[in-house]
Amino acid sequence: MKENKLFGVVGHPIRHSLSPVMHNAVFKKLGLNYSYSAFDIEKNDLDVFLNRCREMNFLGLNVTVPHKVDIIRYLDDLDENARLINAVNTIKFEDNMLLGYNTDGLGCVRALEERGERIGGKRILILGAGGAARAIVFQCALEGAEIAISNRTMDRAMRLAREIREKLNKRVLVVNFSESSIRDIIPTTDILINATSVGMYPKIHRSPVSSDVLDPRLTVMDIVYNPIETQFLRNAKRIGCKTIDGVGMFVHQGAESLRIWLDIKPPIDLMRKVVVEKLV
Ligand code: ATR
Repeated sequence: MKENKLFGVVGHPIRHSLSPVMHNAVFKKLGLNYSYSAFDIEKNDLDVFLNRCREMNFLGLNVTVPHKVDIIRYLDDLDENARLINAVNTIKFEDNMLLGYNTDGLGCVRALEERGERIGGKRILILGAGGAARAIVFQCALEGAEIAISNRTMDRAMRLAREIREKLNKRVLVVNFSESSIRDIIPTTDILINATSVGMYPKIHRSPVSSDVLDPRLTVMDIVYNPIETQFLRNAKRIGCKTIDGVGMFVHQGAESLRIWLDIKPPIDLMRKVVVEKLV
């Protein structure tokens, strides 16, 4: 038996996280005697928690809501993505140092690529300007997409667009979060991504935009994965769009974390299967 190594996800609340079952399935499949647990930690206890992990020789952590920004102050260094996005979802413990990464945006891009979508040069409209949207917008901008953002709170979208302009020297279009404004930009959009929380369980009948704005030419992606088929995706599928569910991004952000921690090729199909089994 190989050496035991400890991993986990830290958030608050955390009991519904699918990360433990997904990562433990990978370790089992690869014959690794590693374990991955969920830790419900409040903001004020993060420091003590991280020190405890250090003492116990943890190798890696995922970080989820609401700690992705607050945890940065306790880390020794950040990779380029985490620094740009100013949020961390993955920590690697290396030589007693805590290194922060962000794999959320890359997870989204990998999920698109897996379904045959190339990002460079594509016109992508992202709905939302929260934590998840930020990661996606930065990654898509880095990959050379033309980006438009639409968010209920316009000011938040404007600030994100300004940040992209300042940090990456790239223009981002900000679109009013109204059906008519979104309809106007759809003819010049290739990929439409819902990066808001609209449609997430339990309010499963909500959709960020109505079917009226959709066009069969679009590839439509939702980052909400509970339910797997959201109302938004159902509408898009009905009118003939190619649809990509949120499980893909969840699986790929986890897969990218595994690459960082262990330098392995993660078994994507198994990871997806385990997550889908838990969701249906
Ligand atoms: P996350 O980290 O999951 O992205 P977040 O930072 O709270 O969570 O962001 C949630 C996103 O969903 C935001 O873009 C939010 O819009 P606001 O910036 O206007 O709050 C969006 N959102 C949440 N509920 C919404 C609703 N009912 N209609 C439209 N957008 C909504």
